[in-house]
Amino acid sequence: MKKFSARKTLAKVENYQPGKPIEKVRKELRLKRVDKLASNESPFGVFAGVRKAVAKELSKVNLYPLADCFYLRQRISSLFRVQPNQIIFGNGSDEIITLVLRAFVEPYKEEIIIGSPTFLIYKIQAETMGIPVREIPMKNFRYDLDKIKRNITGRTKMIFIANPDNPNSTYINHKDMRSFLVSIPKNILIFLDEAYYEFAPGDFPDSLNFLKEGFNIIFTRTFSKIYGLAGLRIGYGISRPEIIAALDKVREPFNVNRLAQAAALAALKEQKKVRQIREYIIREKENLYSALDKLGLFYVKSATNFVLIKINSAEKIYSYFLKRGIIIRKMSVWGLPDFIRVTIGRKSQNSRFLKALKNFMRTGG
Ligand SMILES: Cc1ncc(COP(=O)(O)O)c(C=O)c1O
Repeated sequence: MKKFSARKTLAKVENYQPGKPIEKVRKELRLKRVDKLASNESPFGVFAGVRKAVAKELSKVNLYPLADCFYLRQRISSLFRVQPNQIIFGNGSDEIITLVLRAFVEPYKEEIIIGSPTFLIYKIQAETMGIPVREIPMKNFRYDLDKIKRNITGRTKMIFIANPDNPNSTYINHKDMRSFLVSIPKNILIFLDEAYYEFAPGDFPDSLNFLKEGFNIIFTRTFSKIYGLAGLRIGYGISRPEIIAALDKVREPFNVNRLAQAAALAALKEQKKVRQIREYIIREKENLYSALDKLGLFYVKSATNFVLIKINSAEKIYSYFLKRGIIIRKMSVWGLPDFIRVTIGRKSQNSRFLKALKNFMRTGG
């Protein structure tokens, strides 16, 4: 009898490895204080308005959520001045990556182009579906847009660009992105993943305008980072109605839960706090840079809420930090074995991180 097994294509798929959860480290290492600086979450907890909105919505969780995220859709539509049928919501912006691949790329026949290293989900999801992935190495931690162009073939269906990128933390500015878009054939969909948009500098691309200019793009944003809703899973994408209509066909009807919808609506009201967090992160990054300069360590100037730091003993430092209740990200899975990635946290967390780093450098762990 034939053995029951998973689809062949899954054999080469590497599982996504998330940052270690605080709860687990606390229990395993019996630590009182654990700071997680590994997943680029907001260090400032949950906005008071969000808590209130979620508490209120809780009494309705016996009912399915609004399948079309009606109220949130109205809100985003008026914020961006786009039609409601130009928006897709996802269980995190992650889900939208899966949806576009399912809706637009013909498995085994068409392929996608991504940077390398970049956000791991593009490759993982494509491979689970049997979609070939062409990886173009980053050049000095930046997308090599010319090389991406040269690697387009008749099979290329989509190009994924995380802007700013994770883990590289660099960004493509408006001018460079526009020249790139102009040079790409219109039958290729460009996915602009803007999860870290709120942290980026002023010459960041105006993707909404690109859309109006008629470029074949979809751009995504998330509530997981600056808005502090990572645990509720909600993000959205904006594109042309035809693109959204196709995504709606492959979307599970109740993909965004009630609490997430209520929380996102409430979080959008907190623009003043969002601006303050943005300014805080920029200031703290500068403090971190000067400390790293003093230690003589190489780092990449970041347009996000995390910093990539070069340190020879990355594996050792990861365990050293863990034992001291600080979770950072080691970068070997991304092919950067000599790097760690650290999220900008609250002041006390950043000082703890720096203190441990200095001690490690002094004593060699
Ligand atoms: C580049 C990038 N895109 C998307 C995401 C996923 O965000 P979400 O929580 O909205 O699924 C992340 C999360 O770390 C990210 O780094």
